[in-house]
Amino acid sequence: MDIRAATSADWADLYPIIKAVVDAGETYVWSPTPTSDEMKSLWLEPAPWQVVVAEVDGRIVGSAKAGPNRPGRGSHIATASFIVSPEQHGRGVGRALAEYIVRWARDAGYHGMQFNAVVATNTGGLALWESLGFAVIGTVPQAFDHSAHGLVDLHIMHRNL
Ligand SMILES: CC(C)(COP(=O)(O)OP(=O)(O)OC[C@H]1O[C@@H](n2cnc3c(N)ncnc32)[C@H](O)[C@@H]1OP(=O)(O)O)[C@@H](O)C(=O)NCCC(=O)NCCS
Repeated sequence: MDIRAATSADWADLYPIIKAVVDAGETYVWSPTPTSDEMKSLWLEPAPWQVVVAEVDGRIVGSAKAGPNRPGRGSHIATASFIVSPEQHGRGVGRALAEYIVRWARDAGYHGMQFNAVVATNTGGLALWESLGFAVIGTVPQAFDHSAHGLVDLHIMHRNL
């Protein structure tokens, strides 16, 4: 697996992956799913954000982005987002992306990393983040309208870097 910086030329391959995950309505709040152009500006954020893609045999299978969680006096805490192609889940792509992003954020001088909205039913994501040292530091009751389960909790997760 190769993890490298994303470019604008990757978008044609990346958007269908992001759209499939967002359409499912299980992990991301956007609804309806943003158009390709809208999503491109939401996902391919400019520096200081870092946006990467994971490739297997030259094919894009996932993406991650990280940057400041807050501007100015809150900008030393990073946040990040991850998406892996649904047919590639459970093969280590998410772990590789997360390890890469944590390393990048530490090297970039961030003091910690915060995930703002981890859906409580996302057991795979929660297990992955906890195995990487993130802890749930707060829970917003029934803050996510899950496509299958209805209103479920959203966790805020954090780890020091
Ligand atoms: C969450 C996500 C990024 C994880 O990526 P992935 O490639 O499927 O995860 P991996 O194969 O690297 O699995 C890593 C760990 O997650 C856990 N995991 C993955 N799927 C799981 C499942 N269905 N149930 C329980 N644990 C699971 C395991 O602890 C696994 O540990 P291991 O490396 O010791 O086997 C991916 O499933 C995804 O894109 N989901 C939809 C979008 C999303 O949830 N993004 C994150 C929002 S907070």
